[in-house]
Amino acid sequence: MCGIVGYVGFRKSPELLIEGLRRLEYRGYDSAGIAVQNGNGGEINIRKKAGRVDELANLVQNDPVDGTIGIGHTRWATHGETTDVNSHPHIGGNGEVVIVHNGVIENYASLRTKLQEQGFVFHTTTDTEVVAHLIAHHLAEQIKLGGDPASVDTCIAAIEISLKRLKGTYGIVALFRDVPDLVVAARLGSPLVIGVGDREHYVASDASPLVGYVDEVVYLSDHELATLTADEIHLKHLETGQLSPSIQTLDQVSNDVELGDYEHYMLKEIYEQPQTIENAMRGRLNADEATAVFGGLNLDAPQLRRIDRVVLTACGTSWHAGLVGEYMLEEFARLPTEVEYASELRYRNPPLSDRTMIFAITQSGETADTLAAMRECKRKGLPTLAICNVVGSTIAREADGGIYLHAGSEIGVASTKAFTSQVTVLAQLALFMGRMRHLSYPAGSRIIEHLKAMPEKAEQTLKCDELVHDIAKKYHGFDNFLYMGRLYNFPVALEGALKLKEISYIHAEGYPAAEMKHGPIALVDEQTPSVFIVPRGSIYPKVMSNLEEVKARKGPIIAIACEGDEKIADIADDVIYVPDVEEYLQPIVTSIPLQLLSYHIACMRGCNVDRPRNLAKSVTVE
Ligand code: AGP
Ligand code: GLU
Repeated sequence: MCGIVGYVGFRKSPELLIEGLRRLEYRGYDSAGIAVQNGNGGEINIRKKAGRVDELANLVQNDPVDGTIGIGHTRWATHGETTDVNSHPHIGGNGEVVIVHNGVIENYASLRTKLQEQGFVFHTTTDTEVVAHLIAHHLAEQIKLGGDPASVDTCIAAIEISLKRLKGTYGIVALFRDVPDLVVAARLGSPLVIGVGDREHYVASDASPLVGYVDEVVYLSDHELATLTADEIHLKHLETGQLSPSIQTLDQVSNDVELGDYEHYMLKEIYEQPQTIENAMRGRLNADEATAVFGGLNLDAPQLRRIDRVVLTACGTSWHAGLVGEYMLEEFARLPTEVEYASELRYRNPPLSDRTMIFAITQSGETADTLAAMRECKRKGLPTLAICNVVGSTIAREADGGIYLHAGSEIGVASTKAFTSQVTVLAQLALFMGRMRHLSYPAGSRIIEHLKAMPEKAEQTLKCDELVHDIAKKYHGFDNFLYMGRLYNFPVALEGALKLKEISYIHAEGYPAAEMKHGPIALVDEQTPSVFIVPRGSIYPKVMSNLEEVKARKGPIIAIACEGDEKIADIADDVIYVPDVEEYLQPIVTSIPLQLLSYHIACMRGCNVDRPRNLAKSVTVE
């Protein structure tokens, strides 16, 4: 959600900023803009526009700007419509400061009134313009007190006082007209990472714009402010004082963010799953001990044995993976497990003891609600861990310990490979916790064997693509879908419906199949296809009865079934076969055809698969 990029150095910044914004496009946005300053002084030039980065690039081509210092932004509007004028960057005062902002300023209305009383004129309806004017106001105050307008100290003092008056969340990057070699970045709640180069510095919402330009990065934490010039970087914690930057290497390879031969990132990421499932297990399965091994949990065996309850917290697809994890942890470790929406957990006050283990599950590691829920649990002294994909993300850094997915960058807004990796990690976690409790050696060994087979099973599953494409042709015109599954495939039904909704804008509902009779069956008619996830398993006959009930009401049926299940072909209108795997691992193979189904339907409906409307890849606002 929202992308920020900033640069100070020797390269031509407009091209660099636009390229950086392109790499941040996957996060989701509705407008784009840049502000560029020439190191020799003078005004800051802004080009901005509602719409895509390509449109901004055309604007800049027709009306060029020049300079080696600048900031750029892709906006995901929270306050004020999506218009050219509301796009960032925003000007403070008469142009003495220009900022880009990610986040939400909760007390913007009262600040705006005060600033208007002081004579500031507002041109936009955003909360961000308030911050720009507030900094300009405090800059003027500092100058009145004798501060030199051309000194870095005056600018930093103005920004610091302004930040203290803000309530809400921000990642802010600012340029100052009278200090033309300075970029200032500050964060509270919205991610920022600094790229450290030779005679140049970068700042961005995540590391993707930095790949190929720098090898070293510094992740900003909350309440930190960074002062960047071409040659220097100074970090300051606004509550505790000075800090020296902790430089880390950027361990991301640039071809990770390349599309290659695929038409969309989503399809590329669906096809990466055999590999990403493998990566989620690399070095973690110990056949001799019949258990899993995790390097980063940071809890010793006695601490882990004391745990008597697990809470998994997440949003969206990660929450669905959590539901699969709940079933696994209860089945293999006999540990009572709850899965809580992070947005609920952060404001609830459920009874949690020091024997409860909290896991935040998140692909991006930046989801605002998940981060807040994790912090809330941490505040109460609970062991707080994360299952996370993005290395160095805020959640990964703030958790007491955790497990990385190692799935590589997930660019498509619709999460695919992260889901199957999360399920793979949760299966290993259940094995690990189980083997510390009641799970026997042979049972542990069997789980390891089943897990090891999964990359190959995912590979076999992908062979259904052509068939799924044909099925999509048949159904892409329908406006309502139902998804049904039971036990381990109930979360898959939710996930299948979410995938269809988010990228094809078709209304879809996921249900545990038996719930159908309690309401949703009223929706069944010839125009409402039902996707039944019905692989072989302990309650196969029960799901088949649910399927028959839909059939009896003339609802078209697409079934996801196990290879060799010929019976189902007589009842369902279309069948997608997946390999026969253990029930607890079925979500890995049954989710893949559903990812492909939503992908093909969305393409056929002409939707922007990787950047669906209204959605953002990392939801960094509440
Ligand atoms: C998934 O397709 C969605 N775009 C969304 O629900 C996502 O899973 C959710 O926002 C959580 O993101 P996270 O895993 O990065 O925390
Ligand atoms: N709240 C700001 C706005 O609506 C910033 C949104 C964003 O994070 O992109 O302009």
